[in-house]
Amino acid sequence: MGNCLVVVGLQWGDEGKGKVVDLLSKDADIVVRYQGGANAGHTIVYQGQKVILHLLPSGILSPNTKCVIGQGVVVDPEALLEEINTLCSMGVDVVPERLLVSHVATCVMPYHKTLDTLREKRAGARIGTTCRGIGPAYEDLFSRKGIRLCDLLDKDTLKGRLSDILEEKNALIGFFGGEQIRLDEIVERFHSFGLALKPFFGDASLFLKDALDSSKRVLFESAQGTLLDVLHGTYPYVTSSLCIAQACFALCGVPPPPDYKVLGVTKAYTTRVGLGPFPTEDHGEYGESIRQRGYEYGSTTGRPRRCGVLDLPLLRYAVSLNGVKRIALMKTDVLSSMPVRVCTAYRHGNETLTSIHPSLVSNLKLSPIIEEMEGWSAPLIGQELHPSLVSFIRTIEAQLQSRVGIVSTGPGREDAVFIFDVWT
Ligand code: GDP
Ligand code: IMO
Ligand code: MG
Repeated sequence: MGNCLVVVGLQWGDEGKGKVVDLLSKDADIVVRYQGGANAGHTIVYQGQKVILHLLPSGILSPNTKCVIGQGVVVDPEALLEEINTLCSMGVDVVPERLLVSHVATCVMPYHKTLDTLREKRAGARIGTTCRGIGPAYEDLFSRKGIRLCDLLDKDTLKGRLSDILEEKNALIGFFGGEQIRLDEIVERFHSFGLALKPFFGDASLFLKDALDSSKRVLFESAQGTLLDVLHGTYPYVTSSLCIAQACFALCGVPPPPDYKVLGVTKAYTTRVGLGPFPTEDHGEYGESIRQRGYEYGSTTGRPRRCGVLDLPLLRYAVSLNGVKRIALMKTDVLSSMPVRVCTAYRHGNETLTSIHPSLVSNLKLSPIIEEMEGWSAPLIGQELHPSLVSFIRTIEAQLQSRVGIVSTGPGREDAVFIFDVWT
């Protein structure tokens, strides 16, 4: 039995990673978020209540699981504290014994959110971001202008660094016509956030290395999805981090264990929130039905998600890139009593393309080849998967050269069929 599993989104995010990680967490000693920030919205239905996690790993609702936020995550300290408080008020124990936050993770600061929002207001330059400051925070990390969580603890040093940084940021904010940010205000606030979070700080890299060496079961939880990856996705309509599975090792600073496994998560159809190419988008009734029946509205921003047909050529790319051999197929109930459509290839002039790099999707004039399959009235007949759903699964398996290990049939914890143990 393997002791390391990476759960990765195979589409443009919101595939249902939160639900899958929650389900698998009972068998994990540790669950780690390795990239992104509070742009993520991972939904779990817990004791009949919808819980949306932005920064905390989705293992937090499993009492025996330790959660880790690695140094590759950009952490909005205020958002993290709010999330911790919300969960505590629901009776979930979020204490330092259960949560470790890398002390060297980069902070999302108010100027990051301001700049993200101001840029999004400029006509022609929009990406449709979540305005959570993610892009500007990663820019600062890579240009060595970041404030790290441990930097919040010493007020004088913090003030010194921020006075330098703010000069530049305020000039930029001024260029966009935004409101200036005052040094004194943020020094006090962020110093106090640092003190409040200090009990959770630690060396996440060392902790994970020891855990893997002593055969603890570690689950890495990606945020966003492969097609939103900054290097491998539909650039420039992407997020600002590496979302693919293997990035977890580089970003957390641990060597990949020899037998780690990757579980790819996909919906039975496709959605996208924000701008950018989406070749199988359905602007008509079919897409609208999926949106209503699947309640396809962003967990972080509430924006309606764009909906369309399952895109096998792009999934083939994502599966190959992440080294996926096992799949979690989500939201099969949403297609109940609807035509089941899949895009098996694209037509480009006289050519038929069965796999495609996302960067070409916006450049080439592609027409998706869409096939209709036998549908199902409900995913389950008693305890068994509906035979038409089984055929749908077989098609996906054959086309993606992977096995479907989990089939999700509704939002709740109980709405899932485990076909095999995805850790093995
Ligand atoms: P994530 O970002 O990948 O964790 O996904 P989100 O939480 O943003 O979006 C997935 C949505 O689908 C959430 O509202 C889940 O509660 C819901 N969900 C997950 N699996 C299923 C399923 O099998 N059926 C239905 N109807 N909803 C599901
Ligand atoms: P989870 O983890 C879906 C999208 C935004 C936008 C682009 C860039 O819940 O699957 P950003 O704020 O990251 O700079 O926005 O990425 N995006 C997501 N879409 N699910 C997410 O996370 C997303 N996080 C960012 O809508 O198109
Ligand atoms: Mg989401």
